[in-house]
Amino acid sequence: MRVDVVSIFPDYLAPLELSLPGKARAKGLLDVRVHDLRDWTHDRHRTVDDSPYGGGAGMVMKPEPWGEALDEVTAGSDPVIVFTTPSGEPFTQKVARELAAEEHLIFACGRYEGIDQRVIDHAGAWGRVREISLGDYVLNGGEVAALAVTEAVVRLLPGFMGNPDSLVEESHEDGLLEYPVYTKPAVWREHAVPDVLLGGNHRAIGEWRHEQRVRRTARRRPDLVAASALPDDTSLRLAQPADAGEIYTLQRACWLTGLLDNPGVEIPALVESLDDVRAWLGEWTVLVAHRGGRLVAAARGRVTEPGEWAVERLMVAPDLQGQGLGRWMLERIEEAAPEDTSTVVLFTGAGSSRNLKMYRRAGYRPAGEHLPGVLSLRKRRPIGP
Ligand code: 6GU
Repeated sequence: MRVDVVSIFPDYLAPLELSLPGKARAKGLLDVRVHDLRDWTHDRHRTVDDSPYGGGAGMVMKPEPWGEALDEVTAGSDPVIVFTTPSGEPFTQKVARELAAEEHLIFACGRYEGIDQRVIDHAGAWGRVREISLGDYVLNGGEVAALAVTEAVVRLLPGFMGNPDSLVEESHEDGLLEYPVYTKPAVWREHAVPDVLLGGNHRAIGEWRHEQRVRRTARRRPDLVAASALPDDTSLRLAQPADAGEIYTLQRACWLTGLLDNPGVEIPALVESLDDVRAWLGEWTVLVAHRGGRLVAAARGRVTEPGEWAVERLMVAPDLQGQGLGRWMLERIEEAAPEDTSTVVLFTGAGSSRNLKMYRRAGYRPAGEHLPGVLSLRKRRPIGP
């Protein structure tokens, strides 16, 4: 693979000579060339930027040096031209795999407020174009992104990895995060390695690792779980403060039926204020599901005592009930429990027969009356061997 990088800070790309890409170069898998954009300027000050048409803060990279640089670097090739910019598509493992299949990548590293748009519009004449961002934050320039993308791509080149198996079992390859790993000693500062890993039962180890991956992903990246096992076009994520209004509205709608089914029982979800919702959003792990831009389901969980995960406020928009969304949401909030959880507990009105049926099917058993008219339900959760 050939990689060209065009930047006004070519020294910034020195790491491409080192370690991983360096190793790929030594193996003949990679040919990297770093270019100084100023080599394609013609004035005494080697000017690459100018003020924006229409006014506004900052400077814009002039089109002429980019034009000449890309004319030269693309000559005689069918490259992918990667513009690194915070307004690009998010860089993911999938994009890395696509780029790893290419013969020739050219990184055009933007600085200042960006490159004159006409360069990007014209770039289809030089090759296939991608605008790529590392994530939702702003760097001073695209050089770090060019390094990151190159590193992620180069390790996927056939023949690069000593042991290609290590590419298969890793975070983001199959939509789940990686399981935790341990090495000797078996006890370090009173922290023991999980027993199952010491036992040599490979089936049990495999199951334990898969369970760890699902739990980690559910807790840290519910959006990824959502992508893997989703009722159609529903997305899942951790609630944010801005969701408070919709949650407040949804729970009022949802618990109205609870009121009819359980006369005389006081229902907190119906009496609390928007500020109450805002407050508990900060104190619980709260998952929200969206469909077509609309918040359609939510649930909250937290540790109430050691080993116990309390699930509350499981709600589904009234017009979408009866389709399994509540059960699905329940599974997601169960997965978000910490690893040492042995029991999940929840409450529901003794008169809420639909809820009771769903909880029973999901493995919950009655565990007494919590308050008059309110049942406590419990489910043992398997924990690591
Ligand atoms: Cl590719 N460039 C800049 N300047 N900032 C970024 C980025 C790229 N990706 C995330 N932030």
